[in-house]
Amino acid sequence: GSKNKPKFPEGLVLDEITSWYQTAVGLVPTMGSLHQGHLSLIKRARQENSTVIVSIFINPLQFAPNEDYDRYPRTLEQDRQLCELAGVDAIFAPNPEEMGIPPKSIQESQVTQVIPPSAMITGLCGRSRLGHFQGVATIVTKLLNLVQPDRAYFGQKDGQQLAIIKRLVADLNLPVDIVACPIVREPSGLALSSRNQYLTAQEKEQATVLYRGLQQAEAAFKAGVRDSSQLIAVVEQEVARVNTVFVEYIELVEPTTLMSLEKIAEEGMIAIAARLGSTRLIDNTILRDR
Ligand code: PAJ
Repeated sequence: GSKNKPKFPEGLVLDEITSWYQTAVGLVPTMGSLHQGHLSLIKRARQENSTVIVSIFINPLQFAPNEDYDRYPRTLEQDRQLCELAGVDAIFAPNPEEMGIPPKSIQESQVTQVIPPSAMITGLCGRSRLGHFQGVATIVTKLLNLVQPDRAYFGQKDGQQLAIIKRLVADLNLPVDIVACPIVREPSGLALSSRNQYLTAQEKEQATVLYRGLQQAEAAFKAGVRDSSQLIAVVEQEVARVNTVFVEYIELVEPTTLMSLEKIAEEGMIAIAARLGSTRLIDNTILRDR
């Protein structure tokens, strides 16, 4: 990962050599309210880089007017402590003005935005979250340009976001390695999310049905089921057992292009979004042989 390695110095013992050449910078972009999911990215970054930077920025560009920008949890002091404990070297926590994000009214018309391929933003979460992935792509580009990391870390939890960012970095020749990290779950199976804080204890219990649905699909896949409609039906049936959970979508897509799959040849990502009260939850799992 490290660019422009200087010439090898003489007379160093092994661990001096190791710290001498490990000059890589790892960036973990977040919106704060850090939990074990974020911390897994930070730990991975800590293992692979000599400098780890965590950005904390609740990005107005990626929230639609009807979404939870105002009530999104803000816990900067606690986040600072968690970062310190995890050995983070620096936190980058700008405000919208410092990030060059103008007030809402002129946002659309007066700033450059990065628009991901339409094929990647019209399905899954893009269907209901208009402008969301454009806001994500724009802010991630800005963060990468500001911090100039060798590696940037993203969670498979947001599978569509991860695919879009990999595409963005490839298409715009951004000099950074995107590192994908697995989904961290509670013992109940519920994928960790800052938005889980919105859930009551009862809703949290009900929300575990998303992962149970995905696990059922995994079991069906292992038993030889390859058809999209059948795999989706398996998730649907399981999730329907909890009548407070309203499914927004269940889709099977190719994990890198996000193209809808009719059947799985090599691998597929089965993804779900659902509402529970006023909270929107997402989860996914990759289905592949081996
Ligand atoms: P945020 O939701 O704070 O998530 C930051 C990173 O943590 C993302 O890459 C996300 O996929 C990862 N993450 C969240 N929950 C996880 C879990 N349970 N397991 C593994 N990884 C998890 O995603 C964003 O912020 C923003 O869109 C951002 C990329 C920062 C751009 O604004």
